Amino acid sequence: MCGIVGYVGPRPSQDILLSGLARLEYRGYDSAGIAVIDGDGQLGLRKRAGKLKVLRDDLVDHPLADGTTGIGHTRWATHGGPTDANAHPHLADEDRLAVIHNGIIENFAELKAELVAEGFTFRSETDTEVAAVLLGREYRATGDLVTAFRAVASRLEGAFTLLAMHRDEPGLVVGARRNSPLVIGLGEGENFLGSDVAAFVEHTRSALAIGQDEIVAITPAGVTVTDFHGEPVEVEPFEVVWDAAAAEKGGWSSFMAKEVSEEPEAVANTVRGRIRDGEVVIPELDGLDSLFAGITRVIVIACGTAAYAGMVGKYALEQWARIPVDVELAHEFRYRDPVIGPDTLVVSISQSGETMDTLMAVKYAREQGARTLSICNTQGATIPRESDAIVYTHAGPEVAVASTKAFVAQITALYLLGLHIGRIRGTLSPADSARSVAELEAVPGKISWVLEKEQAHIAQFSHWMADTQSVLFLGRHVGYPIALEGALKLKEISYIHAEGFAAGELKHGPIALIEPGQPVFVIVPSPRESAELHKKVVSNIQEIRARGARVIAVAEEGDAAVLPFADEVLRIPLAGPLFEPLLAVVPLHIFAMGLATAKGLDVDQPRNLAKSVTVE
Ligand code: G6P
Repeated sequence: MCGIVGYVGPRPSQDILLSGLARLEYRGYDSAGIAVIDGDGQLGLRKRAGKLKVLRDDLVDHPLADGTTGIGHTRWATHGGPTDANAHPHLADEDRLAVIHNGIIENFAELKAELVAEGFTFRSETDTEVAAVLLGREYRATGDLVTAFRAVASRLEGAFTLLAMHRDEPGLVVGARRNSPLVIGLGEGENFLGSDVAAFVEHTRSALAIGQDEIVAITPAGVTVTDFHGEPVEVEPFEVVWDAAAAEKGGWSSFMAKEVSEEPEAVANTVRGRIRDGEVVIPELDGLDSLFAGITRVIVIACGTAAYAGMVGKYALEQWARIPVDVELAHEFRYRDPVIGPDTLVVSISQSGETMDTLMAVKYAREQGARTLSICNTQGATIPRESDAIVYTHAGPEVAVASTKAFVAQITALYLLGLHIGRIRGTLSPADSARSVAELEAVPGKISWVLEKEQAHIAQFSHWMADTQSVLFLGRHVGYPIALEGALKLKEISYIHAEGFAAGELKHGPIALIEPGQPVFVIVPSPRESAELHKKVVSNIQEIRARGARVIAVAEEGDAAVLPFADEVLRIPLAGPLFEPLLAVVPLHIFAMGLATAKGLDVDQPRNLAKSVTVE
């Protein structure tokens, strides 16, 4: 939530800041702003409510003097509505200091009262301005931005990434972080700060990840990182594997359309390099077998789509590794005093690696002595850094707020993990392992098949359904989390009522919702491999059909049993039961996108949401 970018170097900074913000806009888009120290040493500011485009247009109409030191921000409002005044940067020290912020400063009210009592005044309702004024006061006392930052950072409670620059110290941007993201980009004679590497990947792929409670100062000549007490700390260099083009829309109508089309590669790239002689070998877990020794249970924690990936993974982990798996929403897990200890492996799943609820749950799990493993898509992110082990998904940058390709990559990573643990624990025979590996390797081709054969058909009928007010989704076994994911996607980007149910639960309540014409998607298990379940789901279809539902079946190719009862059939290729979710979800992603498009909505930046939720 909130995107942050900072630049120092020889180049005019405005374009660099604006293109960095464009790449971070998925983090929040209710207002945006930049501040620049210009060639005359003056600090210029421009900030506007609305999407980044509003700010861009404003800068075209009323140019701001450019300069080589700057900071920029795109906001997801927490304290104070999305107005020009509440937009960042915020100024202090007689408008000589500019500050941007991501996170929530929990003790802002008491700090504000202290500052008001001293005679300071405020122009916004934000917690950020309190930090800015505090920093201005400290700067007055010390005349040094890094020293002032140290004093301020240790007084703030909550989560924050703060970036600041002062007119009297041009060529310097200082940042501090606690439980909020910040990474450093290293250029030639120029340096960058960003909420994530997307902010600067078009300029450099050389990056540094900094830890919690650390302060970074960038100048054109170098980077200094210290802790909040001024002690130098070690920073971890890494090479960004994404290239800038991967985060471009290319010729696609939306990032979401592009990302759905990349689902085959997301799976293929996540598998690549992790299979040797038909067996799963995860290089990142080399030498970490002890992490899995003696564990008696696995708890998967995540939020949103990532939690549904976890629910799918549970079936595979239990089947292959014969270990009990619970899946919990990270925010619920953290606050219910869960019974965990050294025999528990807590697997977190997060595309961004920054979701605050998930991060806090991981920290809590570690404090309780549990072992932690992170499945994450973003290098340099906080959650993997806070975990004992990491398995990266290689979905590439995901920009659309609603997660699609990351979802299939997360399931893939969980499957690799399940096969890995199954082998270590000796619960999976080499033949079963080889069979599952072959199934997994075949998934990308099968997803491509769905995209090729069904996309146009789904796009067409989603258009016909543009006025639909409510859609239900039913699934059983691994189809159940897919039903939940189908419903979530629709809520996120189409703003219509959508719910996913376990098909068996239908008769215990939800069937009362069925009235003539109610569209219901049904994820139908394979009649070959899950004959028992298949029969039950077909019965469920008949039950809702008898009550007038309009049935859209997602069914295996050749499954004729659904034909008499379905108004639409969306076909997926044959696959083993555990691999069907990776195929069945694709039509649901296409449908959500088609319906939102038909309603004229912005599928990439849905209202009220942000992609990386860095507040609890
Ligand atoms: C937000 C996004 C969802 C995403 C969830 C978890 O709610 O809108 O699309 O699934 O966060 O994000 P993560 O980065 O932890 O996977």
